[in-house]
Amino acid sequence: MAVNTRRVSEEELNTQKEYEKKVSSLIQTRYSNKPLACVVTYGCQQNVADSEKIKGMLEIMGYGFTEDRLSAKLVIFNTCAVREHAEDRVFGNVGALKKYKLKNPDVIIALCGCMMQQEHIAKRIKESFQFVDLVFGTHVVHKLPELLYTALTRRKRVFELPDIDGVIAEGLPVKRDNDSKAWLPIMYGCNNFCSYCVVPYVRGRERSREFSDIEKEFRKLVSQGYKEITLLGQNVNSYGKDLNPKISFSELLRRLSSIDGDYRIRFMTSHPKDCTKELLETMASCDRVAKHLHLPFQSGNNRILGLMNRGYTREHYLSLINYAKELMGDELSITSDIIVGFPGETYEEFSDTKSLVEELGAIGLFTFIYSKREGTPAAEMDDPVSYEDKSLWLRELLALQEKISARQMQLHKGKTFKCFVYGKGKLGDNYLAARTDGNVIIEFEGDERLIGTFQNIKATEPLTYVIKGEIQK
Ligand code: 5AD
Ligand code: SF4
Repeated sequence: MAVNTRRVSEEELNTQKEYEKKVSSLIQTRYSNKPLACVVTYGCQQNVADSEKIKGMLEIMGYGFTEDRLSAKLVIFNTCAVREHAEDRVFGNVGALKKYKLKNPDVIIALCGCMMQQEHIAKRIKESFQFVDLVFGTHVVHKLPELLYTALTRRKRVFELPDIDGVIAEGLPVKRDNDSKAWLPIMYGCNNFCSYCVVPYVRGRERSREFSDIEKEFRKLVSQGYKEITLLGQNVNSYGKDLNPKISFSELLRRLSSIDGDYRIRFMTSHPKDCTKELLETMASCDRVAKHLHLPFQSGNNRILGLMNRGYTREHYLSLINYAKELMGDELSITSDIIVGFPGETYEEFSDTKSLVEELGAIGLFTFIYSKREGTPAAEMDDPVSYEDKSLWLRELLALQEKISARQMQLHKGKTFKCFVYGKGKLGDNYLAARTDGNVIIEFEGDERLIGTFQNIKATEPLTYVIKGEIQK
């Protein structure tokens, strides 16, 4: 629904640039040294990408950065609402800053992200966390300069949590965490309303960035030497449905991957309901697109999938996987997300998830115990199984996947892969860590100067989650 999409106007963005200047001169007069900001990020890559924009704006305003909350003049928590555990951590960590704030009243404590977009959370912060100065929602990240200026100059707390939807702010500065690996959001929001999930309520409806904006950012990343570029969206398969003219995600991949350069494209997350054969064929045929499919199935049982409002069956999911395997063979790596203990799920139904895990042959899984989210349909459903029993089910699943991961790793033994060397390894002091196209990690002994380059590495000794390898000249 293009009508809902509102691109933040040039005028609004210019107003924010004026505020950037105002904050900059204000902090120069207030502090003799460059003040430090600490941005703490929870949750998914979309949040990581938002934090990189927040840091981009802060850098322009004259802030330096620190990981140490207790030496920062500005602490921003970018929060996640997807599970209760993540929320509890935020409350704990924010609460731990109370003393610091009371001793240092000039410090600004700010909260943003998905949690803040829920009314009951904002209310709790307002009432019980009085030392928090600034709270802003997911739709107004671009207004940070103005909000920060207000927080710095007024003695009042600032809450900016509009329930507007469909905003896209282009052209914000980005301070990336990594200089060879980049996140590139291609769309925002979600329309799927899976019955357990809070995301559609806190991130709004799906809206795609214009192809020209994505292409411009992509070309810039390639020219700056970024080697792994991950396209982000809650459901990348529905990219472009709201654009005029429409453009499919497969078409986007084909266009981007035809741009010259030494890089690899990844994407996440795909939804099985909208994943097309065309997308799998595009993955198979475009050399620069990594052969890694992150396709969450959540449950292997059709009754539970129906209750989850996922819009596909186990059989449909498997038909997609089998087609992908047919096209890409051993080159393909699969990962998935699973929820254990959805309300009313029986052990027999959970066993269908285990059998699907066996059939899938994933290299890794992201497994979660169901977490009740206020305001979602699943929160109203009967949930008789205890947390302890669900934990035992989860443990069973993890043990099973451990065997499968080890088996998948064995398949790679003796093969040589073009790998991106992304950092230091964990197997020993002189080990480096590299990622294959299929997202398998190979560690090998090598010179640190290789970090940030592609190298051919032979997989020699598969372990459970990584493989030991040797660099090939
Ligand atoms: N409880 C547990 N896991 C959840 N996820 C989303 N919502 C919930 C919830 N309420 C998981 C899904 C999703 C991943 C990002 O988080 O598996 O794919
Ligand atoms: Fe949540 Fe489902 Fe949307 Fe993923 S697709 S963000 S699980 S509602």
